[in-house]
Amino acid sequence: MTTLQLVEVTAGFGAVTVLHGIDLDVKDGEIAGVFGLNGAGKSVTMKTIAGIVPARSGQIWFDGVDITRLDAESRVEMGMGHVPQGRQVFANLTVEENLRLGAYTLRRRDKSRYPAVLDSVYDRFPVLRERRTQKAGTMSGGQQASLAVARALVNEPRLILVDEPSAGLSPKMQGDLREVLQVVKDSGVTMVLVEQNVAFGLSLVDTANLLQTGVVVHTAPVAELDEDTLATHLGIGRVLAGATGSALTARKKR
Ligand SMILES: Nc1ncnc2c1ncn2[C@@H]1O[C@H](COP(=O)(O)OP(=O)(O)OP(=O)(O)O)[C@@H](O)[C@H]1O
Ligand SMILES: [Mg+2]
Repeated sequence: MTTLQLVEVTAGFGAVTVLHGIDLDVKDGEIAGVFGLNGAGKSVTMKTIAGIVPARSGQIWFDGVDITRLDAESRVEMGMGHVPQGRQVFANLTVEENLRLGAYTLRRRDKSRYPAVLDSVYDRFPVLRERRTQKAGTMSGGQQASLAVARALVNEPRLILVDEPSAGLSPKMQGDLREVLQVVKDSGVTMVLVEQNVAFGLSLVDTANLLQTGVVVHTAPVAELDEDTLATHLGIGRVLAGATGSALTARKKR
């Protein structure tokens, strides 16, 4: 079954078209990767899925419902979560206050469920429970990345859009984040993952969609991807392709 489908979606700003007809298929329970260079349109794709940037043409289907014209809040209510690029946690609010804000649609739907949901999120992120009274802005980059993901999960989404979560993290923190995202996936949440760090992304995704100037130019299950294809479509040099290549090999063995 398909959780999310984009058909020929275009979007832009003023006279500029950024998405020139995006096709994307995300199956239930999978992590779909979106990779591309700076400015390729990855974040605009995520914002268009989330309803923050309107689609100018084409269709977006979520669980079989045409949501193309639905506003962002209604998409959240339908079970979509967004972890924006740069994390955007509220630095001066505590961890718990950030989570509470994230849960606004859940609390409106059924306030009584919030404590149990918060508890289950804390079970998945023990570090956030420990630090629940700490100001988000004083936490490490990795902890803030976890908070940003947790804040999307308190609405119990079926689908989350995660935009460049590994940016700025040390290799150790990237490892922790990978585990967090794997746990989220294992709990049955479908995910679209945008990554500039292709090696990190390949360690998680089931399928890869390669984006070039607003068009998906190549889609393949990770098992069918090869380094040449990645290098061609992403224009990555040999050094990076080396790291990416080892991530690919490691991933195929799993
Ligand atoms: N609000 C906006 N107004 C005008 N142009 C925009 C706006 N948001 C994005 N763009 C343009 O759309 C294009 C794609 O931007 P987008 O943020 O999707 O890139 P990206 O692939 O996410 O890049 P990065 O890897 O740097 O995050 C860029 O040329 C950008 O300048
Ligand atoms: Mg971006």
